[in-house]
Amino acid sequence: MNANEDQPNQATTEPGTRQTLLLSKLWHGADYNYEQWLHAPEVLDEDFRLMGEAHCNIMSVGIFAWSMLEPSEGEYSFDWLDGLMDRLTENGMFAALATPSAAPPPWLSQRYPETRRVNAQGRREPHRRRQNFCYSSPVYRQKTAEMNRRLAERYGDHPALLLWHVSNEYTASQCHCDLCLGAFHEWLKARYGSLDALNAAYWSTFWSHRYSEWEQIEPVDPSMQGLMLDWQRFTSDRALDFYLAECAPLREITPDKPITTNFMQPDVGLDYWRFAPHVDIVSWDSYPRWHLGEDSATGLQTAFYHDLHRSYKGQPFLLMESTPSVTNWQGISRLKQPGMLRLASVQAVAHGANSVQYFQWRQSRGGEEKFHGAVVSHSGADNRTFRDVSAVGELLGRMGAAATAVVKAKVAVVYDFENEWALNHAALPHSNGKHYQRTCREHYGSFWRRGIATDVIHAEADLSRYRLVVAPMLYMLKRGVAERLAAFVQSGGTLIMTYLSGLVDEADLCFQGGLPTPLRRTLGLYPQETDALPPEKTGRIVPVSGNLLGLGAEAPFFDYADLTCLEGAQPVAVYGSEFYAGSAAVTVNAYGAGHAYYLATRTDEAHLDALYGAICAQIGMEAALPVVPAGTSVQYRESGGTGYLFVMNFAHAAKRVDVGEGWTDVETGLPVAPLVDLAALGSRIIRRQQA
Ligand code: GAL
Repeated sequence: MNANEDQPNQATTEPGTRQTLLLSKLWHGADYNYEQWLHAPEVLDEDFRLMGEAHCNIMSVGIFAWSMLEPSEGEYSFDWLDGLMDRLTENGMFAALATPSAAPPPWLSQRYPETRRVNAQGRREPHRRRQNFCYSSPVYRQKTAEMNRRLAERYGDHPALLLWHVSNEYTASQCHCDLCLGAFHEWLKARYGSLDALNAAYWSTFWSHRYSEWEQIEPVDPSMQGLMLDWQRFTSDRALDFYLAECAPLREITPDKPITTNFMQPDVGLDYWRFAPHVDIVSWDSYPRWHLGEDSATGLQTAFYHDLHRSYKGQPFLLMESTPSVTNWQGISRLKQPGMLRLASVQAVAHGANSVQYFQWRQSRGGEEKFHGAVVSHSGADNRTFRDVSAVGELLGRMGAAATAVVKAKVAVVYDFENEWALNHAALPHSNGKHYQRTCREHYGSFWRRGIATDVIHAEADLSRYRLVVAPMLYMLKRGVAERLAAFVQSGGTLIMTYLSGLVDEADLCFQGGLPTPLRRTLGLYPQETDALPPEKTGRIVPVSGNLLGLGAEAPFFDYADLTCLEGAQPVAVYGSEFYAGSAAVTVNAYGAGHAYYLATRTDEAHLDALYGAICAQIGMEAALPVVPAGTSVQYRESGGTGYLFVMNFAHAAKRVDVGEGWTDVETGLPVAPLVDLAALGSRIIRRQQA
């Protein structure tokens, strides 16, 4: 039985119903690279038997199949894919059908050398590995459009087609060919209009860089930080432009079929916020390093990424890839300990995933990934991995109704790609320890540990649905952002900002006169100087007696320490050491109907927890549970009248969680006692009617 029990699979071809179907179920499946097994037809029978046992209802197919779909130019071979799609339908399953652009066949690279990338040294890359093509190449665009058109015409009405899986893991374009450089110059012309405007934005008189022709602009100059930032923006946009070109025939021929492309952890040079409006559902590939270091720290990091992916569209997403056992590219990848596969899968759903999918269904016999984990390994399926995967499939089947449940966050952490790129380029008095993303995660962690649902948003996002916004290290203030943050506080919101904020505009030019006025008024201060502390140096923060937050304990500070000039803000804590001892380290300013806090220095997890604990208590911020024991995480999704509570233990010791009265276990249908006992790495999903 493949179907989710409470929502059986139904093939339908009515317009628009695929998106509805996609969002109304929990999906379980894997990348199925059947094209590697065409010589062994018995494999297909065996695989479908096992997919049934593992309660699978979706397979991602055709991702790296170009050389089997078009073995030589213009000679197409779809028969095997026809058979596979039919088999999916016969088994009540669906396809995330890929476009194969991520891996061009060798004939294409050989015949059209201009499709291969040129590196920053001007050398054209040989055909090797995958994701090795130029996004600007007209031939490559034409070839992918032709392939996508044929796929759409052939499978657009196939009952197995659930959604398009466009390409695979786009990254920022790193091609320096003449076509890409020309496109960059056009992009710059559109952005700046004139060389004078560009020279002004780049402050290019610095080191005599004033450009007199567009063609002089080469994106290989770290001294021109505005230029390097624009190159990152452009290379992200180039990938998006290519993605949109790939989508065009799909949208034209199959306007009713949803489209996704699988995102990755946010360090691949793409501004996914710009992609998100163009995908019908967000999907991403998650490969946490479990059992290397503290699993609760890995759990926090993974939660942050899941919340980011949910926030891209503010709707459920797909966990398009995860490994059922190990990877083979992380240096060291440990076997998942008992409970871990289920815990990682439950965690994804807890944060808004509507699927648990794996890379890969069947392990390759050869090639670079032959030792990557798979649902079916070289030795078969009579093993722990297959049993664990099947159990996850069964669990998802029992909780299919949770698919329509959403996460409603009142807290948001700002994590902004352009800010990150600009900050990474900046040469500061303390450049080694910027750790922007890590800092965002650390602030986020205080809410995760408390079971408070949190969105991860970009700097220009709409803030109206939040009560509390944390914007760590918001170095770059794009146009309108300071005003929007000020308006948020004015109308009753609580804002937390930190050191290294409000230094440059979107061109990466420093603000004259220091912190822009709207933020200066909101925070009731402005930073005047910033001290950089070496790694071995840690100071103390001392709470001010009778401070608004009731903080009593001293805390460490390190890395960055702003010396501020207060213009109305009240110190909550002061520095206890260095020549600036006694000056403000943490402040609060009442502004309009809200409050703005400024953390002038970096501090540790315990102090962040104390601060956010006090702030949340003060504004009555609701958590999923009043008490969340250390090492555990609780998340809440709700739909109509039903709330789902996901209780997860990332510790390697048993934990007891007080969930209160009235819950029913989703798996057994039995009432749940208020004290829930979780084994090491254990997880429970419980539900109840909302009051
Ligand atoms: C992903 C990729 C897959 C596979 C997997 C291995 O990044 O999309 O095709 O290579 O990694 O972990």
